Amino acid sequence: MSATPLKVAVLASGRGSNLAALLAARDRGELPVDFVLVGSDKASAHALQLAKAAGIATLALSPRNYPDRRSFDLDLLARIAASGADILVLAGFMRVLDGEALAPWIGRVINIHPSLLPKYRGLHTHRRALEAGDREHGASVHYVTAELDGGPLIAQARITVHPDDDEDTLAQRLLPLEHRLLPTVLSLMASRRLRWSDDGAQLDGQPLRTPLALGEHGLHLP
Ligand code: GRF
Repeated sequence: MSATPLKVAVLASGRGSNLAALLAARDRGELPVDFVLVGSDKASAHALQLAKAAGIATLALSPRNYPDRRSFDLDLLARIAASGADILVLAGFMRVLDGEALAPWIGRVINIHPSLLPKYRGLHTHRRALEAGDREHGASVHYVTAELDGGPLIAQARITVHPDDDEDTLAQRLLPLEHRLLPTVLSLMASRRLRWSDDGAQLDGQPLRTPLALGEHGLHLP
C-alpha cells in the first residue's frame, strides 16, 4: 500500500448517512484516507453538519447564484481541486455533473446509486423496481462519467424483494448494505488496487468483467 493516504472530497445533498459510514470506517481503521472537504449544493444538508462535527472543511454552494449548470459545476469542481482532493465521492449528491467540468476528473469520481445498474438510472429506483416486479434489487458503486448513472460499474450489493415490500422497506434494507459497499470500494482505491482504465474499472491490473459483489464478509474479489 502506498505511504501517502488518498485525499478524498465528498459531495452530498442531504442526510449524509453514506458520509457517516465513510467516516465510521475511517475511524475503525478500515479506510486509510484523508477527508479534505465535504461539499453540498444545499446549505442545510445534514451531511455538512456531520462533516463539521468531524473537523472536516465544508463547502456549501447554491446553484441559484450561478447563471447556469455548467458555471456552477466548474466552480464546484475547481474548489474541490483546490482542496487537494485526489478522489471525489458522490454520496447522495442529487445533481448531474456537467461533462466539461467533469473531464479533468474522469476516473477519479465515484457515485453510489440505489439500484442494480444499468437498471433504473435516475430517481425513484425502489418504486421502479417494485413496479417492474423485480425479485432482486440493490445498490451500485460506479465511476462517474457525463452520462447519468452510466459510468463503468465497480461493485454491487443485492437484496431479495419480498412480496410485502414497499419503497420504505426496500430502502431500509438496502441502506445498511450501501453503508458497507461505499467504504469498501473506496478502500480498494486507497490501496491503489482499484483503478480506472479507458475500458472500465481494473482490479489488480485486470479488467473487472462483472461488478464486485458484496457478501456477508465484504466484497468477493476475483
Ligand atoms: C442513497 O440511497 C444513495 O444511494 C443515493 O442517495 C442516497 C443518499 O443517502 N445516491 P444519504 O444522504 O447518504 O443518507
